[in-house]
Amino acid sequence: MKNHKEYNFKYTEISTITELSDEEQNLVNQSLEALKTSYSPYSKFKVGAAALLENGEVILGSNQENGAYPSGLCAERVALFYAGAKYPGVPVKCLAVSACFEGEQTKSPVSPCGACRQVMIETQHIGKKPMRIILTGSEKSIVIENSAFLLPFNFVNTDKIFE
Ligand code: THU
Repeated sequence: MKNHKEYNFKYTEISTITELSDEEQNLVNQSLEALKTSYSPYSKFKVGAAALLENGEVILGSNQENGAYPSGLCAERVALFYAGAKYPGVPVKCLAVSACFEGEQTKSPVSPCGACRQVMIETQHIGKKPMRIILTGSEKSIVIENSAFLLPFNFVNTDKIFE
């Protein structure tokens, strides 16, 4: 038997973050604030992430590079691992990510790497609630309702998205 299958998902594109709730606009602004703590002397590409937890706490992360390049860590994983370390098991409701190059926010939404997507999905799996992802850019942002959409055939819950 041979079955051809297709994977697609819905997401929302917005031209301004004022389309978001006040809580999520605030989260995006905090991800922009997090850019200030980026340590990125090698790439000069700053990334900021802000995770809103179900207990109301916001955890910030930024990319932290290292002279031994692969030892650095992306902003998303810094924020999510810090959230897990500080509030184990508390669901992350939403993660906002922003980026900046040469002093200016990127026009297009920043796109998380595969390793960060895998970590987002497992964080969501632990919290047992969908995690919204907001990828921001100054001219366009993208809202994804469930982090699992970002990584087909991920390691934790492929059964749930391929029914
Ligand atoms: N980076 C992130 O922190 N998050 C992303 O979504 C994309 C890439 C970082 C890794 C590295 O420090 C720099 O951006 C350039 O790749």
